[in-house]
Amino acid sequence: MMIGRFLRSGFPGSFILIESSSRLQLLQIGPHIIHSPLVLAPMAGVADLPFRRLCRRFGAGMAVTEMLTADTSKWDSQKSRFRLPVLDEAEPRVVQIAGAEPAQLAEAAQRSVELGAQIVDINMGCPAKKVCKRAAGSALLREEKLVAEILQSVVKAVAVPVTLKIRTGWDLQTRNAMAIARLAEDAGIQALTIHGRTRACLFNGEAEYDTIAEVVDGVDIPVIANGDITSPQQAKAVLAHTGAAALMIGRGAQGQPWLFDQIKDFLNGEAPSIPTRREVVAVILEHLSAMHEYYGETMGVRIARKHVGWYLQKLQIERTHRKAFNQLPGSEQQLEFINQLLLITNNNKQEIAA
Ligand SMILES: Cc1cc2nc3c(=O)[nH]c(=O)nc-3n(C[C@H](O)[C@H](O)[C@H](O)COP(=O)(O)O)c2cc1C
Repeated sequence: MMIGRFLRSGFPGSFILIESSSRLQLLQIGPHIIHSPLVLAPMAGVADLPFRRLCRRFGAGMAVTEMLTADTSKWDSQKSRFRLPVLDEAEPRVVQIAGAEPAQLAEAAQRSVELGAQIVDINMGCPAKKVCKRAAGSALLREEKLVAEILQSVVKAVAVPVTLKIRTGWDLQTRNAMAIARLAEDAGIQALTIHGRTRACLFNGEAEYDTIAEVVDGVDIPVIANGDITSPQQAKAVLAHTGAAALMIGRGAQGQPWLFDQIKDFLNGEAPSIPTRREVVAVILEHLSAMHEYYGETMGVRIARKHVGWYLQKLQIERTHRKAFNQLPGSEQQLEFINQLLLITNNNKQEIAA
């Protein structure tokens, strides 16, 4: 594989052939035409600006921010400040908000748009206790009337497209994704992401795609399938099974943001491009520098440990080295460590599996 081809990645206009519908599809959300219907999932503590940028460069057609509380009085906090939209991010800029009160969510949506959001996504999929205790996130799925009020209120409040992210339901007995999808369509929601688990499932077991397929058949808005997509083969299988308009990928991209390009290759009938260790090291260095710059020294060094841990795991670097990386106190040492990575292992040409 050519280094240039690998590093270039994600150029606009690279359409994907989705065989299940035997026609070319691209994802349209309002005025936004998304050429690569592969979306980086919102992941609090993971899908920050540096990671979103990297994934976009490696073929993700859209990347959603980490969830931002709908309580705008908290947007001055350090946590929220790093989650606000920035204008120099690739378009369309998608900001996810989480809350439970229609008026508060509407205001948060307006503020997001003022700051640069081009699509507002509403989180009704997160099972986190902190969110659910306030009956936000996936806890809302139990309250269909409130869901409708929220959706109508946010759609009315902004001129940009509003999208929704849900799970298949509250628990295995209450899989009401179809009912919520119809409410969403009626309210003017322009795309719906479904994580193929219920709220009660948390992250246990395997995602199921039957419910997603049913919703794809039952509504006319684009449905984005999500859950456990970690390889090009799995991506193809989920597309074929669900007929979804797009795929959303979360944990699968951790430590391998090039997964999006690999999926594109595979869906286009080509062998997925596999980065060499040297190329991976170059990506880690770039990612590290971006985190140091975005968060500053102290926070940047801390956040980098998690991402580098995933890269090193994928590279099958010994645990002792991974532990050693976590002990490093500063950005310079972190960069130096990764620079030395090619020496740690004596096989520079070794390739990592897709
Ligand atoms: C660390 C982490 C943080 C997450 N944060 C959010 C979030 O902020 N908003 C949201 O809607 N979903 C969130 N999710 C759920 C993901 O968007 C996605 O639905 C889920 O991980 C399933 O997709 P995957 O199997 O591709 O990871 C989070 C998941 C993880 C693992």
